[in-house]
Amino acid sequence: MATDLSKQKELKEIAGILLMATSVDNWSPIQKFEAKPDDLLICTFPKSGTTWIQEIVDMIAQNGDLEKCQQVILQQRHPFLEWTGPPKPSGVERANAMPSPRILKTHLPAHLLPPSFWENNCKFIYLARNAKDCMVSYYHFYRMNQTLPDPGTWEEYFENFISGKVGWGSWFDHVRGWWTSKDSYRTLFLFYEDIKRNPKQEIRKVMQFMGKNLDETILDKIVQETSFEKMKENPLVNRSAVPKSVMDQSISPFMRKGTVGDWKNHFTVAQNERFDKIYKEKMEGISINFCTEL
Ligand SMILES: *[C@@H]1O[C@H](CO)[C@@H](O)[C@H](O)[C@H]1NC(C)=O
Ligand SMILES: *[C@@H]1O[C@H](CO)[C@@H](O)[C@H](O)[C@H]1NC(C)=O
Repeated sequence: MATDLSKQKELKEIAGILLMATSVDNWSPIQKFEAKPDDLLICTFPKSGTTWIQEIVDMIAQNGDLEKCQQVILQQRHPFLEWTGPPKPSGVERANAMPSPRILKTHLPAHLLPPSFWENNCKFIYLARNAKDCMVSYYHFYRMNQTLPDPGTWEEYFENFISGKVGWGSWFDHVRGWWTSKDSYRTLFLFYEDIKRNPKQEIRKVMQFMGKNLDETILDKIVQETSFEKMKENPLVNRSAVPKSVMDQSISPFMRKGTVGDWKNHFTVAQNERFDKIYKEKMEGISINFCTEL
């Protein structure tokens, strides 16, 4: 498949990080965004379980009341900070129109976050996913999301991911940045693989971080409703409302596999060795233990 260069326009660099071109063209209102002290910001590198943690947080915020969660599609519940449209309204406009306490979403690396989040000592939930599965998931997302440039072959894409030439930049820098800031700011740092392994335990952490106290039956219900199988069939989260011209789910579904270890079906032995070496270099001095298989 030939690379469609016209689509490359959809990503642009700011401070060396590729973002949606519209975000870069409208950067000033994003950077000037006024956070409030009771804002909760969900932060992820793309394809790290963003929709999953959003649904978990929303269900906790609504005390497990499914009907309340299902009033609008997920993308409309938590403004996407750097979204500038089209379609409008932008994430900033949406957030400004929202009553507090607000729950917002971003993929921005910590160093590009609007400063008011730090100044107001907001709460952050960062969800990280092991780099290999994240890379694979992002590849398939690139293939189906028609607003993104063609990822090229797996080999080409592999190089781009490693060198941070994908939307929202380098996975390594992203994780490092948020990991480093977590000790100075109110951050709940979670791992995709932990939620997979022990959803109730991790959902309880989120609940406590949000200052909520829900009983066990409600927690059990949230565990059930946020399982991959349930979410895949939930039209309010599975992007079935997004037109095919934007997301072509016949190429690859938005909710694809939701597993740990699918990288083994994509990485060659040589790629894996090379990746492990690069990982070591890039994550030096950072004591995170990612799990890449369950
Ligand atoms: C397509 O991908 C870009 C980059 O991840 C994302 O910002 C955008 O929201 C996606 N499109 C939709 C409709 O979700
Ligand atoms: C989304 O959920 C609806 C309702 O369960 C289902 O019919 C549809 O096939 C799902 N879409 C995808 C892409 O999985």
